[in-house]
Amino acid sequence: MPEIRPKSRQLGRRIQGQSMSNSSVLSEILTGATAAYHQHPHVATAAVKRTLTQGRLLTSSDIDSLTVLEFAAQDILQKYHAAMRQMETRLETLDQDLKLRQSRNPIHHIESRMKSVPSIFEKLGRYGKSQTLDSMERYIMDIAGLRVIVSYVQDVYDILHYLEHQDDLEVVAVKDYIKNPKPNGYRSLHMIVRIPVYFLNGRQSVPVEIQIRTIAMDFWASLEHDLKYKAVFETSGLDVGEELRRCSAIIEEVEERMQVLARALEQEAPVGTHEMDAARKMDLSEGLGA
Ligand code: GTP
Ligand code: MG
Repeated sequence: MPEIRPKSRQLGRRIQGQSMSNSSVLSEILTGATAAYHQHPHVATAAVKRTLTQGRLLTSSDIDSLTVLEFAAQDILQKYHAAMRQMETRLETLDQDLKLRQSRNPIHHIESRMKSVPSIFEKLGRYGKSQTLDSMERYIMDIAGLRVIVSYVQDVYDILHYLEHQDDLEVVAVKDYIKNPKPNGYRSLHMIVRIPVYFLNGRQSVPVEIQIRTIAMDFWASLEHDLKYKAVFETSGLDVGEELRRCSAIIEEVEERMQVLARALEQEAPVGTHEMDAARKMDLSEGLGA
């Protein structure tokens, strides 16, 4: 790992020279804000922002801490960010290739997210692991996450199959919550895949979590996620858990029936559609003198 060199040392000294007190304004504010965050996130965030923007004097150690924190986080997270982008490109390439060969795009869209540093450390604590950078790399497999939303259930397994056959990818784990839904009705296919990423100091195999689900599964998961944080159980008189399990079962049945229709559509496609497409593309490239 490169050496950490805070760039703000000079700036820190200058500000310390102007400072009236040696107490660390930033650490006081951060301590207060951290305590208040869960109950009043907006107030806590606003307090920190005010400190950093309204000309309150920070000590040099405040500024060095901020710089070191930013640098340490960037150094580690940029590796996962690179892996996530490369994995996303692979999935887009697969989708385009399938479009060319089968005249349909299985992937509806892809979402990506990086886990925040606080939630990485919170998860390590929850799992009873030491909260160190080494544990973070060893135990947290979802620092980089992709969610691939497809049309039909068969598309989920097709994507799994294609990724399993890319020989430089290492599929570390697959959890199939479509074959075995969670007790609450959650359905999706989860994979942890290691992808090789090249850096100045060589190649590293970086894990990315990929969740593959249909549009309908995503619809269910979004609602369930939102309901988890609301007290609708008491107010609506509904048995929300039971209602969600029922919705999940209905979605599963609808998806099976739509898959049958989609297969019928594929088989009924006029003979030679794909060949016609290919021929048209060849005509075009010849016309362009390719
Ligand atoms: P985490 O500590 O959440 O990462 O658990 P895990 O490592 O055992 O992974 P798991 O495969 O159970 O779930 C990982 C991710 O899948 C979560 O962060 C969610 O994005 C999603 N997920 C899992 N279960 C549910 C669920 O019941 N509802 C919803 N909406 N999403 C879920
Ligand atoms: Mg996870």
